[in-house]
Amino acid sequence: MNILVTGGAGYIGSHTCIELLQAGYNVVVIDNLYNSSSQSLKHVEKITGKKITFYELDIRDKKALNKVFEENCFDGVIHFAGLKAVGESVKKPMEYYNVNVYGSFILAELMKKFGCKTLVFSSSATVYGEPNVIPIKEDFPLSPKNPYGRSKLMVETYLRDIFLENESWHIGILRYFNPAGAHESGLIGEDPNGIPNNLLPYISQVAVGKFDKLKIFGDDYKTHDGTGVRDYIHVVDLAKGHLMALEALSKKSQILTLNLGSGRGQSVIDMVKAFEKASSKKIPYEIVNRRLGDIPASYTDTTFAEKILGWKPKYDENKICEDAWRWQQNNPSGYE
Ligand code: NAD
Ligand code: UD1
Repeated sequence: MNILVTGGAGYIGSHTCIELLQAGYNVVVIDNLYNSSSQSLKHVEKITGKKITFYELDIRDKKALNKVFEENCFDGVIHFAGLKAVGESVKKPMEYYNVNVYGSFILAELMKKFGCKTLVFSSSATVYGEPNVIPIKEDFPLSPKNPYGRSKLMVETYLRDIFLENESWHIGILRYFNPAGAHESGLIGEDPNGIPNNLLPYISQVAVGKFDKLKIFGDDYKTHDGTGVRDYIHVVDLAKGHLMALEALSKKSQILTLNLGSGRGQSVIDMVKAFEKASSKKIPYEIVNRRLGDIPASYTDTTFAEKILGWKPKYDENKICEDAWRWQQNNPSGYE
């Protein structure tokens, strides 16, 4: 079985390539390396002992992507390629809609042209906006609060309309919560450009000495210790979820929308403590103002994903921090 992985050199994509290769799939990656390095794919090959076919191209380059479809016969596509920084999306909305929405249009059009109708799409829990109730279920109202989230919701809507018109598609929309951690080999992990926005990469870089301390964005939320609560899901569990989604989709034509998270809410302080335990390092922190646009708490109800995919995350916050720390220690400057 041949799978096209768009954005496969990136953080979640590279971990998913490992799972695909280990399950016996052939993997073709397209990526323009805007936010990644082809080193990640070399490391995936090292971990699995298997080869990846890699095309460096922009997903919006229809001619180049058409050639990839001509040269390969795909049984399915996992579509990770996109821009993902919420703050940046507010400053560069045109780029976000162009890459995330237009890029997805091009991909789906070529899939239709070449008769490949199995697609797994990376959406985000950010489409729920600020939920009234937690845990979050798949049928909750959708109200994204920034261009990034709205670009994801647009693609979801587009895919639903494609399915309505032709029910022979097999489409999986996966809404991730907070992916974190790294492969336990320490060979691949998250490699953010510049100052990390997300919590775990920031904590890791404090631990390795790049920053003096963590700034905790508010301790006056109505949560168990006042700091923000999120659902941290180990990236390897998430990668396995993609494999299980592909398998579920292969059984019948359908459109599936699933939340992928751990189902547990953990505060910033909980994660600091877990990281201190994993690294045997003190993580100094100071409490600063709340970050604009942050919500108090978000975590998923895992019942539906478990029922539909038989998927249950295996790893907890301790394993997330142990693996993130191993990756950070082995690669203090990422893939450079
Ligand atoms: P990432 O940036 O590591 O991976 C995305 C990949 O897409 C990168 O390798 C990048 O170079 C590539 N890319 C970007 N623009 C491209 C273009 N025009 N053409 C071809 N390739 C392009 O991000 P990630 O964390 O692995 O996220 C993967 C997907 O999951 C994204 O769509 C993201 O929006 C979504 N997602 C991520 C998170 C998260 O917290 N990491 C949460 C929810 C959803
Ligand atoms: C962010 C994005 C969200 C995206 C998600 C996963 C925003 C507003 N939301 O959400 O759309 O889907 O990442 O990529 O950016 N924190 C600190 N100090 C830090 C960093 C984070 O205290 O230096 C806190 C945050 O306030 C939050 C928690 O840690 O309570 C997690 O933050 P983060 O990793 O940025 O994820 P999200 O806020 O869930």
